[in-house]
Amino acid sequence: MAVFPFQSGTPEPLLRASGVTIDYGAVRATENVSFDVHEGDRFVLLGPSGCGKSTLLKTVGGFITPTAGTLTLAGQRITAPGPDRIVVFQEFDQLPPWKTVQQNVMFPMLVSGVSRAEASARALAWLEKVGLAQFAHAYPHTLSGGMKARVAIARALAMQPKILLMDEPFAALDALTRRKMQEELQMLWDEMRFTMLFVTHSIEEALVVGNRILLLSPHPGRVRAELNSHQFGLHSAGSVAFQAATGRIHRLLFGEEPLVQATGVTVTV
Ligand SMILES: Nc1ncnc2c1ncn2[C@@H]1O[C@H](COP(=O)(O)OP(=O)(O)O)[C@@H](O)[C@H]1O
Ligand SMILES: [Mg+2]
Repeated sequence: MAVFPFQSGTPEPLLRASGVTIDYGAVRATENVSFDVHEGDRFVLLGPSGCGKSTLLKTVGGFITPTAGTLTLAGQRITAPGPDRIVVFQEFDQLPPWKTVQQNVMFPMLVSGVSRAEASARALAWLEKVGLAQFAHAYPHTLSGGMKARVAIARALAMQPKILLMDEPFAALDALTRRKMQEELQMLWDEMRFTMLFVTHSIEEALVVGNRILLLSPHPGRVRAELNSHQFGLHSAGSVAFQAATGRIHRLLFGEEPLVQATGVTVTV
């Protein structure tokens, strides 16, 4: 295990959360959460239910204003939703059933002022990247859960957001489809190098999907540690190192290892 301080000379982060505290009335959802996401990061918020992952993601989305602290995207304070931050949720039945797959992917682009010709071309290009080009004219009810997930990802990335926000996007899928989607997301990232903030409560998913992982503990949501996990990925699940990292994260999350002061410290698992 290596522990080393942040380098102050690192480039300006794309997204910076600084001392973010969020209260819902008397309920404190998160307390003093800080993290930096750099361009091209696959940054994961990991922790048990109730640790404020969705709340943090919605705050990055601009749907919730923090009680204290700030969020900035490319140096600009986040105060409202915008097309530079697109969310993919767990429920893919957010796809309107009366629109074809291609029309579904085009819709947010049309709403944000992209011309019909460009929206159509971008939609087809992204459907091809997620392996659904031949389903462009199909309706959502004819697709499997995994295919709907791919449409949702294509629709989000076609908007060319600065950061893709994903809230447990594969949680409703069966285990095999879920693993396949994790792999496909990884392959898409290898090709396109977008920046993503990914929420999950699964340690294995965090290790497969992420290059950095922020561990959160609940009630209220606080940072326990920030992990460097870039060495894992597509083909590492099941390896001895992967199993060791899984165990280590479990101990960090559930308190059998002393709390690592997150701010300024990175742990390599
Ligand atoms: N709209 C809301 N009103 C009141 N409390 C909420 C609301 N949303 C979430 N909470 C509370 O905030 C905490 C964090 O919730 P959430 O962000 O959904 O956590 P997670 O996504 O990690 O499961 C929980 O204690 C939850 O009960
Ligand atoms: Mg949640």
